[in-house]
Amino acid sequence: AYQQITIPVVVHVLYNTQLQNISDAQIFSQIDVLNADFGGTNPDLSQLPGAFSGLQGTANIHFELANDRIYRKQSSRESWGTRDEMKYSSKGGMDAVDPETHLNIWVCRIGSSILGYAQFPGGNPKTDGVVIDPDFFGTTGSVQYPFNQGRTATHEVGHWLNLRHIWGDGRCNADDFVADTPLSDRPNYGCPAFPTVHCKTTDMTMNFMDYTDDACMYMFSQGQVDRMRAVLQTTARSGYI
Ligand code: ARG
Ligand code: ZN
Ligand code: CA
Repeated sequence: AYQQITIPVVVHVLYNTQLQNISDAQIFSQIDVLNADFGGTNPDLSQLPGAFSGLQGTANIHFELANDRIYRKQSSRESWGTRDEMKYSSKGGMDAVDPETHLNIWVCRIGSSILGYAQFPGGNPKTDGVVIDPDFFGTTGSVQYPFNQGRTATHEVGHWLNLRHIWGDGRCNADDFVADTPLSDRPNYGCPAFPTVHCKTTDMTMNFMDYTDDACMYMFSQGQVDRMRAVLQTTARSGYI
């Protein structure tokens, strides 16, 4: 089992409407989900079909948010898109804080039905981190079913730690660079029945890196965990150890 690594977190709440100025309680509900999902203590893990139980992995990554690391700013801008403008105060957004040693999370309306997006390791520190829409952040307050269990942030932090989508963003022959996740043809949505087969093997639809509903994704594989832990040893993400 991996030793616990703690990653300090900074949260930027960039709001237009008061509803988007989410409460501290909503923010901490998201940190709790990250800690459960990356600690392997999420209760829904018990739903994992026996066929996959040997493949589940525990990252043992802990996220720590101090009360004075929540920053808030009102903006007249209604949505921010995916071009990182929310990450620059010069563009009306909020600058990253200590990105070499902290996971920066921007909570703001992205628009175009996008729940969240992430920067992969090795990019510009000024834009490093994840962006999540307030309606899909945490488990209380403004969150909207079926993305009301905090799994958007789990998925995006997976990308931030170098994970690809489970279907490798291609058809049955596209790799996600993880050996123990089965090949898949495309994203799965909703809450798929088990087994769901698109290529020759059963899709791991309950993996956090698929596109299923929050209630229907609840595991990382051991290979994904190994990949996340490996990137924390590289210069791209070395500030936490
Ligand atoms: N980047 C994906 C999107 O915006 C996030 C998918 C998250 N899935 C979830 N069940 N929360 O569509
Ligand atoms: Zn994704
Ligand atoms: Ca794979």
